[in-house]
Amino acid sequence: MTDRVVVLIDMDCFYCQVESRLDPALQGRPTAVVQYNAWKGGGIIAVSYEARAFGVRRGMRGDEARERCGDIALVSVPEVREKADLTRYRDAGKEVIQVLLQFKGAVVERASVDEAYLDITRMVQERMEEKGKGSVTSKDVPNTHIVGIEEGEEEEEEGKLHGDWLKRALEENQTDNVRLAVGAAIVEEMRRAIFDQTRFRCSAGVAHNKTLAKLACGIHKPNKQTILPHEAVDDLFRTLKVTKLRGLGGKLGAVIEEELNCETVGDLSRVDLSQLKERFEEKTATWLYHIARGVEGEPVRERDLPKSIGCSKNFPGTKSLDTRERVHFWFSQLSEEVCERLEKDRESNGRVARGLTVHLSNDRGASSSKAGPLGSYDPEKMTRQAMLMVGSLNESVTSDPSLWRPRVTNLSISAGKFAEESGQTPSIQNFFGKKDSSRKEDDIAAVDVEELVPTLEGFDQSILQLLPAKIKRKVHERLEKLRGEEASSSEGASASSSGIGEVHDHDHDQAARDVPQQEGDKAKCDKCGKFISEFELPEHLDFHMAKELQAEMSRQERPIATRMTETVQPSSSSSRVTKRKKGAAAGLPNVKCKKQRDITNFLKKI
Ligand code: CTP
Ligand code: CA
Ligand code: CA
Repeated sequence: MTDRVVVLIDMDCFYCQVESRLDPALQGRPTAVVQYNAWKGGGIIAVSYEARAFGVRRGMRGDEARERCGDIALVSVPEVREKADLTRYRDAGKEVIQVLLQFKGAVVERASVDEAYLDITRMVQERMEEKGKGSVTSKDVPNTHIVGIEEGEEEEEEGKLHGDWLKRALEENQTDNVRLAVGAAIVEEMRRAIFDQTRFRCSAGVAHNKTLAKLACGIHKPNKQTILPHEAVDDLFRTLKVTKLRGLGGKLGAVIEEELNCETVGDLSRVDLSQLKERFEEKTATWLYHIARGVEGEPVRERDLPKSIGCSKNFPGTKSLDTRERVHFWFSQLSEEVCERLEKDRESNGRVARGLTVHLSNDRGASSSKAGPLGSYDPEKMTRQAMLMVGSLNESVTSDPSLWRPRVTNLSISAGKFAEESGQTPSIQNFFGKKDSSRKEDDIAAVDVEELVPTLEGFDQSILQLLPAKIKRKVHERLEKLRGEEASSSEGASASSSGIGEVHDHDHDQAARDVPQQEGDKAKCDKCGKFISEFELPEHLDFHMAKELQAEMSRQERPIATRMTETVQPSSSSSRVTKRKKGAAAGLPNVKCKKQRDITNFLKKI
């Protein structure tokens, strides 16, 4: 429970720092990074702390920022192929991870473009064994705050208070707190190394688990770090809004607020476990019960490469796409970028992506994601594949195939399911194309039957004849499993097939029941509370980030300039169509037809 030392490092106003490192004239100046500056000065996505002092916030238009701060420097995100190019920020994020990887014994999990979780329990242990009682003094933690320790007005006084806390921890053998303090000293070193090697500043939280580390990190920013000792949790939670907690920012948090009448985490801690179990499934209830007491066991997982590579583009209002040609054009733009990045990734990391997910939203509020195997890094082929995957969503295909209805408001492509490169890129095309028997076992393993047969609905039995024996067996097993699931529960099935697109789509009841608590190696999403495959989480969070920004921006006046947001969609094991609002059903495509086409596409056309 308190046996780990877990850290979250988050870069301060990251995109601004990246820009001001490129252009030193910006250093110390109020700065904001904007996307698409054509309309009202562009949408702000990052704000320096100097500019925050003037009330400039993310989501404002550049013009509004200028009204608040005449001296503000507005820097535009670079654009390539008419869309934002975030390469420089991503690369800068990688630099930071490289520094962290130099600290042997730390488990580093890259969590988004500008943050990483670290488990430094082992480093702390070793330092304590090496240095004994003298392993930490208050001089080792000069930029560290401690939750629950009154902040002194004077710097000296502050230091003294920290000193007292530390002295007590050492004298009274409060091992947990000593370990957090030793951890904080290590994190001071890490932050210094990050600054020395990259010139970037960051903040950090030091606690016993990820949720508390993330929370602590945000308490003192910028360029500071915060320890959250276990004994300070109750006091902090007494007034902390439920929705501020990692995992409770979305639907789950809203249900807790509205239905359980809990405004603060303290309120939640007074709800009995049995009551929680009445409202939520077992795992969710148990997780909530513990997190309300500051207890959580999610491991920090070794990971320093992104788990998928992708991008998307929004076409709001009058920019929505209404012809097949335009959809094709934009898929080709997105494919070019994704393929370029995939090639770079293959060169530097020796791996290849085997899965492709495409996502499409329309102006009736429906959105749909489709996943399939990725056959090639060739942009033209990827475009063709993407078109095939979403083809059935075009309702005008029978009346006028040159049009696209309903109009498209967002397209995205994401490649994932990486595997080590072994000479030739494995693909379903190669697999089915070869007649010889030299197919490797792992080629078969690479074929994801969940993608081939997402649901029972719409599965065409005649396709089985076309499949090689081994795949056929896998498909049979899959069908058996689906039949079993259908028989035992019709409700649960929707939970496993739902992904991120419907974060806004379900009504509360449904969402709350659908949130799984712990699913093997799945991690909990901060924003919607869903457990997302650990593989997809950073990109899933980036997706939320993009969604939020999109929502913020569309709340502003219209017409809104076409905006590109880098976002990655987690690949899903199934095809999904989700409803944004009640009454949007008219916008839903024919699911049956769509699924059937999927499988034939995999077999013949990719
Ligand atoms: N970002 C974005 N859109 C959002 C949220 C974040 O494009 N809705 C980008 C920002 O440009 C930002 C980076 O992702 O620089 C990291 O986001 P975050 O850590 O939330 O904010 P910072 O700008 O780094 O500011 P802070 O110092 O508060 O961490
Ligand atoms: Ca940040
Ligand atoms: Ca961040």
